[in-house]
Amino acid sequence: MKITFANPEIPKTGVVVVGILDGLKLGGSAKALDKQMSGGLVRAMKASRFRGSNGHSLALLVPGGTKLDRILLVGLGKPSSIDASAMQHLGGELYGALSTKGHATVQVLVDPIEKCKMHPDEMAAEIAFGARLRSYRFDKYRTKEKAEAKPSLKNLNIICKSSAKARAAFGPKNKVADGVFFTRDLVSEPANVLYPETLAKQARSLTKLGVKVEVLSEVQMRKLGMGALLGVGQGSVRESKMVIMQWNGKKGKGKKESPVAFVGKGVTFDTGGISIKPSGGMEDMKWDMGGSGVVIGLMKALAGRKANANVVGVVGLVENMPSGSAQRPGDIVTSMSGQTIEVLNTDAEGRLVLADALWYTKGRFKPKFMVDLATLTGAIIVSLGNEKAGLFSNDDKLSEQLREAGEAVGESVWRMPMGDSYDKMINCDVADMKNISGGRGAGSITAAQFLKRFVDKTPWAHLDIAGVTWSNKTTSIVPKGGSAFGVRLLDRLIADNYEK
Ligand code: BES
Ligand code: MN
Ligand code: ZN
Repeated sequence: MKITFANPEIPKTGVVVVGILDGLKLGGSAKALDKQMSGGLVRAMKASRFRGSNGHSLALLVPGGTKLDRILLVGLGKPSSIDASAMQHLGGELYGALSTKGHATVQVLVDPIEKCKMHPDEMAAEIAFGARLRSYRFDKYRTKEKAEAKPSLKNLNIICKSSAKARAAFGPKNKVADGVFFTRDLVSEPANVLYPETLAKQARSLTKLGVKVEVLSEVQMRKLGMGALLGVGQGSVRESKMVIMQWNGKKGKGKKESPVAFVGKGVTFDTGGISIKPSGGMEDMKWDMGGSGVVIGLMKALAGRKANANVVGVVGLVENMPSGSAQRPGDIVTSMSGQTIEVLNTDAEGRLVLADALWYTKGRFKPKFMVDLATLTGAIIVSLGNEKAGLFSNDDKLSEQLREAGEAVGESVWRMPMGDSYDKMINCDVADMKNISGGRGAGSITAAQFLKRFVDKTPWAHLDIAGVTWSNKTTSIVPKGGSAFGVRLLDRLIADNYEK
């Protein structure tokens, strides 16, 4: 879909979208249309009990007195409730309402609103961002979809005062959407297509945006002593990889500043290994690389909008398969940190991958902080459902920054407890630790305690995104499927705290 911006003018033909404030207050464009319709616009609203409430809409077909095909009235609510996220949702909803109706072009009229903190150009940029986010589709494998089912909407033109400012404000947001789409693509690909080598190749494509990309082979990881990660991948015919991405975008005095780091779990398919999973629903485990997908998409977003920050992204890529060469329950592996791990359950593999990825990142880059993302535990879905990601951290400031960024973009995180009494639960008689507690409770917390043993004193946060990486229902700006939860959150974390 092409998104354009233009200065005010009421379109004569086609489809227009107009906002209506709560209590049927009309802006300039709505008034002009109502006049053309000899009062028909207001009559239509009254005839259908449309009040202009937030989230409500009303479609008028071939409105009399005009040559338009359709007017979509969208409720704006009260001026005080209009903010960036409300406008993104509006953009997403209008895309959802109009994308398959047969129209190729839609014009959105954005008027100035009294007592509203947003200018029309800002509103326009957010509407565009929301519409773009909603427009994502993963349809590359659908060869027989009927034309009527495919989106007809090709051009979205947003009409507002200072349209040049709107266009400029949309620029970086559009780059963030590019990152989100990249993550959604990666998460949606099946595991026969996307495996460590091909995922690494996708990450390599960021080179053209100015990201420095390195890919470690199994031989190189063996030399580095990454026995925990390599143990997970040893049952697969696909070679394990680690990808290191660097965006050095910091300008001026801080040019050489130590980076912030993001680390992702990239299990391209998780069968569970020898501790094999039940077959029902196992197909979901194609998105067990969701954490790595977010890190790669985030790097794309940051490089795309040329973020003024030094950022490192590291992803550990493995396929967890049962086979004659697979890791067995009871195997003891030595991680890069030197700490030994008894692998009591080969299905608790994500933490083994992250153990080496975190240790490597910390040692090589000495980052200001590390945030890891992982579809780590089913238990976090029991705790938080599909609404929020679990946040585990050794640092209150970082936790608060993550919480705030999450609320700002609508990707909510909830801090979970950690502590010595949980840490003890992974102590082990025959090695430095075991990879599961063996008990029934606190599965997400003991997993986080495990990770904490590989971060030392570095400020660190772990986001358990198992419940939010894939969405079974379409919401205003997230179509069902891969959500890319985390990309907008972490982009915001950096924008608000590390680009000043
Ligand atoms: N990838 C899974 C966690 C998961 C479950 C993600 C459901 C998304 C949806 C992870 O590797 C796993 O298998 N965890 C086990 C840990 C257990 C063996 C301690 C789990 O959650 O059951
Ligand atoms: Mn697993
Ligand atoms: Zn897993």
